[in-house]
Amino acid sequence: MAKKAAPKIEWSKLGFGFSDVNCHIRYTWKNGKWSKPSFVKDPYITMHIGASCLHYGQECFEGIKCFRQKNGKIVIFRPEENAKRMYRTAVRTCMAPVPEEMFLEACEKVVKKNKEYIPPYGTGGSMYLRPLLIGTGPQIGVAPAKEYTFMIMVMPVGAYYKGGLKPVRAVIFDDWDRAAPHGMGDVKVGGNYAAGIFAHEKAKHEGWPVELYLDAKSHKYVEEFATSNFAGITKDGKYVTPDSCSVLPSVTNMSLKQCAADLGIKVECRPVPYTEIKKFKAVAALGTAVVITPVWEITRGKQVIKISDPETVDPTLQKLYDTVQGIQYGDLPDKHGWCHEVK
Ligand code: COI
Repeated sequence: MAKKAAPKIEWSKLGFGFSDVNCHIRYTWKNGKWSKPSFVKDPYITMHIGASCLHYGQECFEGIKCFRQKNGKIVIFRPEENAKRMYRTAVRTCMAPVPEEMFLEACEKVVKKNKEYIPPYGTGGSMYLRPLLIGTGPQIGVAPAKEYTFMIMVMPVGAYYKGGLKPVRAVIFDDWDRAAPHGMGDVKVGGNYAAGIFAHEKAKHEGWPVELYLDAKSHKYVEEFATSNFAGITKDGKYVTPDSCSVLPSVTNMSLKQCAADLGIKVECRPVPYTEIKKFKAVAALGTAVVITPVWEITRGKQVIKISDPETVDPTLQKLYDTVQGIQYGDLPDKHGWCHEVK
């Protein structure tokens, strides 16, 4: 495959969107085993009209970031955790799981083939990896497919919400839930996001960039934002994040909990009543795409909870943001070995 000339990208203006790169990587599972990888230029894929991902939602994905560090190293942030989470999702949805070594090999290979699309150090950008596992075998009775496709697409990205670490407003709608207890909220299936698109469009249209979900059973406890986990900072400086069987275990939240503990910040992972929101001095959405996005105000019906100032970022959140980004960009020591180098 002939390589393109270095792309002309305005790195500091990148948003969070699709763009063309050299290729994606693809593997197929048939007759009980995974194929060798192939690199595919064409971003379109063909599949059987009866593919189980199209009819019965046998589909899952991951989100990972890759950084170009100051010293020139290229690192992928904690891909082992995404490999484990995709494995669990595959088991939960009866898809052929991707072995961890194959997942890591795929991440490395696809990054290497698209190196020139990794934003330079200092631009605030990164390369986003989107691993995708889908049932591609035809299946008309409801049952697992007999063929699967695993792919990773990559693209250079900037901030998910425009403005970097800039506080946003959130809304709670009591009419729609994200995930039921013992449903699929704790695994990363596309259906969890489909469940929120209607509410998201309404929220966006009415001026809120993000929605917060309460637990589907009682609507008394905080669960997570539509595309990211929730954390609150208490007035005495603790990091509090919901413990619930229907929240997606976020790799960013997991990392921030560790960074917080390292910084001497007390971490509490426990049920978080809705009524506690007004007691926090800061709230944030946490995820690979959003990193840490402070939330300064939350609206639920006629109730508007003002948590913090729309213009200022809480120092604890700022410290956590600087720590995790510092590790990712190589400005701080990677003492937990989170950065997976691509040589
Ligand atoms: C991520 O943060 O990587 C996600 O997967 C959320 C996505 C829907 C933007």
